[in-house]
Amino acid sequence: MLDLAAAASRSARAGVRSIEVLRTVRELREWRGETGDLGLVPTMGALHDGHLSLVERAVRESERAIASIFVNPTQFGPAEDYRAYPRDEANDLALLERAGCAAAYLPSVEQIYPAGDDTRIVPGDIAARLEGAARPGHFTGVCTVVAKLFEMVRPTRAYFGQKDFQQLRVVQTMVRHLAMDVRVVPCPTVRADDGLALSSRNAYLSETERASALALSRGLFAAREAWQRGERDAAVLRGAAGGAASAAGRPEYVSVADPATLREIAGRADRAVVSLACRVGRARLIDNVLLGMTLDELAAL
Ligand code: PAJ
Repeated sequence: MLDLAAAASRSARAGVRSIEVLRTVRELREWRGETGDLGLVPTMGALHDGHLSLVERAVRESERAIASIFVNPTQFGPAEDYRAYPRDEANDLALLERAGCAAAYLPSVEQIYPAGDDTRIVPGDIAARLEGAARPGHFTGVCTVVAKLFEMVRPTRAYFGQKDFQQLRVVQTMVRHLAMDVRVVPCPTVRADDGLALSSRNAYLSETERASALALSRGLFAAREAWQRGERDAAVLRGAAGGAASAAGRPEYVSVADPATLREIAGRADRAVVSLACRVGRARLIDNVLLGMTLDELAAL
């Protein structure tokens, strides 16, 4: 019998990889070819099981799967953590290879933003509130880099996590408005056993901070439990989420919004995305739960 693990570690020691590592648009295009079904998972690296759940789904559903790793400078504000953002290329590549990814695209800043590049994709109303209000210009950076990645990779499907709910809706909306030929696949949020949503930024948390960060998911679960008991008043749901979450510190926002438009719901909520943002130590954390709607229904919006 072949010992695959031993063979893999032998080839790893010899520097042989089964994953194709692409660093330029030219290398990417050559690897891509003109035809074929391709699943893309855009990431900023520091990969965790949340990212890997997207990669595994892309591998399962696609002839070939590719993940991109690019810490995108244009989506960070001047006072944000672009420089400090965790980077671990060697480990990320090993994880992608193990997950069965055919290729990884790791462009330099110059590959994505050639000298003088000031072309931007500015999203509309869907990006105005919540993260868009807290982080001016953030979604312009996200739309611009995602549009570039779509153009470079030309994927059949692209996988995005519910964890960044507004980002998912902003990207879905951009794809529809620009008639981009790609299917956006929403994927569920992966959590630690205690409920904390996995995030690359959890690496910033000390042990005590991580314990208080649990208040975010507790708040969201409290809102979900109220909803499951039949509560439909948006203000009450907002109160349930905010009440429990405030144990982590004062949330930047607590929102009960329509999942399609992200506008705040006043009165009755028959479907809603409950989301919040909170600073814990030097980490700014976001999380959400979707009520009265499935991700498949969301994919069809
Ligand atoms: P990043 O934060 O690295 O996330 C990459 C993808 O993984 C996103 O679609 C995000 O929603 C998803 N993800 C993160 N944590 C997750 C979790 N716990 N469960 C499920 N999915 C999770 O989001 C970005 O990068 C960037 O903005 C990007 C889209 C790559 C553009 O630069």
